[in-house]
Amino acid sequence: MLPTPNRTCLFLLTFLLLCSSSILASPFSTFAVSQRGPNYTLVCALVPSALPHRYDLNCNSASTRDVLCYPAGEIPYAAVAAGNDFLCGLTIPSDNSNATMRWWTFPEHGYETYEKRIYWGPPLAALASGDTHVCGLTDGGPECWRWEEMVFPRGINFSDIAVGRNFVCGRLRSGTIRCFGSDREVVEKTPVGNFSLLAAGTRHACAESVAGQLTCWGAGAPAVEPDLSGIVSMALGENKTCALCSNGTVLCWGEGSRPPDSLARERFVGIQARGDAICGILLLNFSVVCWGNELFLQNHTIYTSVLPGTCSPISSCGSCGVLPGSGNMCSSDEGICQSCRLQLSSNSTPPSQQSGGGRTRKTLFAVLGSGFSLGLLALMCFLASRALRLRNNGGVLGSVWLYRRSQPLGLPDLSLDGRLGGGTVEEFSLEFLFMITDNFSETHEIGSGSFGAVYRATLPDGREVAIKRADVPPSAPPSTSRRHEQLRKFDREQREQAFCSELAVLSRINHKNLVRLLGFCRERGERVLVYEYMTHGTLHDNLHRCPMVPSSPLSSWTTRLRLALDAARGIEYLHAYAVPPIIHRDIKSSNILLDEEWTAKVADFGLSLTSPEDEGSIAAGTVGYMDPEYYRLRRLTEKSDIYSFGVVLLELVTGCKAIHRSMEVEGEDQETEGSSTPRNVVEMAVPYIEADEVARVMDRRVAPASPEEVEAVAYVGYVASECVRPEGQDRPTMGEVVGALERAYAACAGAAAARTETTAGRRVLSRAPSFM
Ligand SMILES: *[C@@H]1O[C@H](CO)[C@@H](O)[C@H](O)[C@H]1NC(C)=O
Ligand SMILES: *[C@@H]1O[C@H](CO)[C@@H](O)[C@H](O)[C@H]1NC(C)=O
Ligand SMILES: *[C@@H]1O[C@H](CO)[C@@H](O)[C@H](O)[C@H]1NC(C)=O
Ligand SMILES: *[C@@H]1O[C@H](CO)[C@@H](O)[C@H](O)[C@H]1NC(C)=O
Ligand SMILES: *[C@@H]1O[C@H](CO)[C@@H](O)[C@H](O)[C@H]1NC(C)=O
Ligand SMILES: *[C@@H]1O[C@H](CO)[C@@H](O)[C@H](O)[C@H]1NC(C)=O
Ligand SMILES: *[C@@H]1O[C@H](CO)[C@@H](O)[C@H](O)[C@H]1NC(C)=O
Ligand SMILES: *[C@@H]1O[C@H](CO)[C@@H](O)[C@H](O)[C@H]1NC(C)=O
Repeated sequence: MLPTPNRTCLFLLTFLLLCSSSILASPFSTFAVSQRGPNYTLVCALVPSALPHRYDLNCNSASTRDVLCYPAGEIPYAAVAAGNDFLCGLTIPSDNSNATMRWWTFPEHGYETYEKRIYWGPPLAALASGDTHVCGLTDGGPECWRWEEMVFPRGINFSDIAVGRNFVCGRLRSGTIRCFGSDREVVEKTPVGNFSLLAAGTRHACAESVAGQLTCWGAGAPAVEPDLSGIVSMALGENKTCALCSNGTVLCWGEGSRPPDSLARERFVGIQARGDAICGILLLNFSVVCWGNELFLQNHTIYTSVLPGTCSPISSCGSCGVLPGSGNMCSSDEGICQSCRLQLSSNSTPPSQQSGGGRTRKTLFAVLGSGFSLGLLALMCFLASRALRLRNNGGVLGSVWLYRRSQPLGLPDLSLDGRLGGGTVEEFSLEFLFMITDNFSETHEIGSGSFGAVYRATLPDGREVAIKRADVPPSAPPSTSRRHEQLRKFDREQREQAFCSELAVLSRINHKNLVRLLGFCRERGERVLVYEYMTHGTLHDNLHRCPMVPSSPLSSWTTRLRLALDAARGIEYLHAYAVPPIIHRDIKSSNILLDEEWTAKVADFGLSLTSPEDEGSIAAGTVGYMDPEYYRLRRLTEKSDIYSFGVVLLELVTGCKAIHRSMEVEGEDQETEGSSTPRNVVEMAVPYIEADEVARVMDRRVAPASPEEVEAVAYVGYVASECVRPEGQDRPTMGEVVGALERAYAACAGAAAARTETTAGRRVLSRAPSFM
């Protein structure tokens, strides 16, 4: 009981208590729970993005492994609210600028959803959501968005707000609770008293009095009044009530709400609930763990690391200071204030967070690995599509590309050669890119990809890079006919998709035979990707340069077979080791690039698809390389890439271009054994190969081959003719192609090196490929 009759003292004490509680309990959350169906819970949280101190808004499902990603992009979301079918992201500006809140309705099907800005104005004082609605405290008092029936008496001003399914409760400055809405159980039974803490579940609400007494009311409230004091915060679901105690542990009431034994002694920094799901952020490592329904039994961890609270100026944290271990999560003079109600410092400090923020952050990034790249991907796609929509509609209604994964993140061990870690992708400023390319001048232009021109430049550290810039300005004259064709082929939207697709692929893959992404730029509507520069250009240009430079490595069969093997390994990786598998869709010799050491790498993922279901109705690819079955049936499988790769193999063997149009009769195309301008290399070469007369179509620019080399090349010819079989099911897999090329290369290299009897090669190659 409070001591004696000094009314001034009593008043001061009450004032202090009210004051401190309203300052220190954060009115915002950085994670939220959504229950979309009986067995489908989504947990949304702010997770580290590709940009320092920026967080993507991700929603992760425990059951289906779906991920919805609403990337930070240019909007630094700092608080999150979610209901069962929507998500909101709110900014908390530290300067005097307006706050923004955007709303996304979760997509029922597919990958795209629409976003809507529902608030733009002075910063909110609090944000809360129920199963179906979101409300906040604005300068003008409480406001609920997209909930017309909910009206508040004029002039009412809450200092705290909580939202249930059909009601809203608020705490007045005086400590009194007022509830509004159609849930009579809650509205009519609102307790009288002075309260310091308020929370709402689906159909009940709880409040803690200034004297520390917890009171709950409405349907599904705990049967017996929990005897508990010193609550930091509460999370209420349907028939479930949980409280975060000042020692960091969570206590719950209601059937099935108790934390499992493995979590019962864990300490938390925040808790949230929806329906029967309860989730919390662990103090130890800022992982999000959930319990309360069967979905979580197998794995309680939904996120390995999230932003544990909203960032605010350190000076505003007061005497209770910054949450340990969160130092590096916010920008320099900001931190995550620790609630004074949470008394953690005395008996233990979290060990993993002690070594300082730097390590924490590193771990975050390492742990998030691919998730992070997804963030990058989604970020770029978000910007790309947003720019597109804004141009189309000019309105606030934008669209967001969602990444939905159907399998756990991560790559098989096999794939990791450590050359492309998630953290190595840099963001470049547009100004910087203008500088190193002389304003994207033509002298720097080296070609075109599936979404725009490609430029060559040198970074200050001496690294040479290739820069792909989307959105070719209409004024730029088309510099090559190829580019012109590309531009015609892709309308604007397709280029945007190509861009997203390229990022989607490059951010997930990592292989020495796939071209490496170094960075990106996303300023002022520009979409630019920066790659390692491939010194020796495309396989196409090297192979079809006329006359072939005698010193060119391509004038050796051994090198040609190694290049084939390199490219095959890159494609095999896409098909067999990327999760989910990737179909390149545009394999051709001009998409195979050669680096300083003449290693071949597959490039240009602008048309790539991750699964056949994603497929649009438009057959894409390049004439001469396109799988006729795919073209006819519009049914895309990995076997379409096999066909295209078969054409590349035929190019390597014959030195002929994939297609000989009559108007394009060039010197090297005419050495086709007297036949009258065959339409393409498949029709030209395969009959000779099948008649065992490969020598008649072998590229004559290569020095006369030893019998072993002829045999190895003939073998590759067989492989190629298998690859270009009209029916996809008759073609080998990429794994089989790699195996065959390995044998051919070994035999050819052995023959070239020794020029002696290589019976080994003979033995291997004297029979048809194993898959024949
Ligand atoms: C939800 O999961 C439970 C247990 O796994 C199962 O018995 C039930 O049929 C599922 N309900 C729905 C709607 O899928
Ligand atoms: C803030 O938002 C209000 C409308 O909500 C608008 O009138 C005002 O111009 C905005 N202020 C700034 C600085 O953008
Ligand atoms: C509500 O209270 C806030 C301070 O918490 C104040 O800034 C605001 O002006 C008040 N609004 C009204 C309508 O009284
Ligand atoms: C709550 O506090 C107010 C003053 O702020 C006081 O007038 C009132 O009697 C208190 N009510 C209860 C139930 O303690
Ligand atoms: C909550 O309790 C009510 C009444 O007992 C029941 O009808 C309802 O199904 C329960 N909801 C859940 C999610 O358990
Ligand atoms: C934490 O506090 C709660 C409530 O005060 C208490 O029931 C629980 O035993 C405490 N747990 C630990 C580990 O101290
Ligand atoms: C649980 O899920 C998390 C997040 O998806 C993942 O990082 C972790 O490895 C999983 N743990 C187990 C034991 O499967
Ligand atoms: C976080 O800490 C908890 C509790 O010690 C542990 O079970 C979990 O595996 C940790 N998660 C990660 C991602 O390290």
